[in-house]
Amino acid sequence: APLSQIKPSFAPTPVDNNDMNNRTEPPTVQKTIDLLSMQAHIEGGYYVETDRDPLNVPNPFINNKDPGTSYTVPETDVTSDIRLSPGQDHSTRSASTTIYYYITPGSPLGCFHRNRGRTVHTLHRGRGCYVLIHADEVLRGDRTAENNKARIETFVVGHDIERGEKLQWIVEGGKFKASFLLPDTDGGDKQSEGLLISETVVPGFEFADHDFMRAAMLVELLKPEEVEELKWLLRE
Ligand code: GUN
Repeated sequence: APLSQIKPSFAPTPVDNNDMNNRTEPPTVQKTIDLLSMQAHIEGGYYVETDRDPLNVPNPFINNKDPGTSYTVPETDVTSDIRLSPGQDHSTRSASTTIYYYITPGSPLGCFHRNRGRTVHTLHRGRGCYVLIHADEVLRGDRTAENNKARIETFVVGHDIERGEKLQWIVEGGKFKASFLLPDTDGGDKQSEGLLISETVVPGFEFADHDFMRAAMLVELLKPEEVEELKWLLRE
C-alpha cells in the first residue's frame, strides 16, 4: 500500500518523542515497560538490551588493510557519515546484541536512523509500519535510476499473516529506518497497546555505528514530494 494510505494510530499532533522524561502511557503499557525494565530510547519508544554476546569479533566496519594496526574508516565507506570517536578501541565488536524495542501510544514513532550492522526483527505484540530508505544504494553508486534518488520501501508488521503482515523482518546495514504505531486492525478504534519487538544486531550495537537522518540528507536522498510525506519521521 502507498504510505499515504497507511494511517498511524495516534493523533496528528503526536506527543514530543524526545521529551524522554515526560511520557505518559496507558497503565497496561507502563506495566510492560516496567516488567521488562525498558527505558526511553533516543529514537523514540523504549528499549532494553537483553543480551550482549561476550564473544568479540574483528570489527567488520573498519578498513583493516594491515590487521592489528590500522583502524581508520575508509573515506568511501557507504554507511559512513559516522565518525569513530577518538580514544575508543574500535578493533572489535560484540558478536551480537539483542534488545526489546517498544513503540507505544505515548511514544508512537521510532524516527529515521541507520546502523551499520544488519538487524533481525521479531514481532511479539501489536502492529506497525516500517519505512526504509535505501540510501546505501545511492551512496554506493549502484543506482543510477531516477535522478539518483533513493528507493523507499514500506511494509506492515503485525500478526495478520494472511494480509501479508510480517512476523519477522530484516534490515540490512546502511539503510535508514523509521517505524510508527498502527491500530491493531485497519479502522479499529481500540487503542493500541503498543508494538513490542525484539531486535538482534550483528555485529553488536555501538553508538559509533549509529546515526540519525538529518533534514538536509532527506532532501538529498528523496524527491520533494517524498520529503514532504516523510519529514514527520525525522528526529526534529
Ligand atoms: N543503546 C542505545 N540504543 C541502543 C540500541 O539500539 N541497541 C543497543 N543494543 N543498545 C543501545
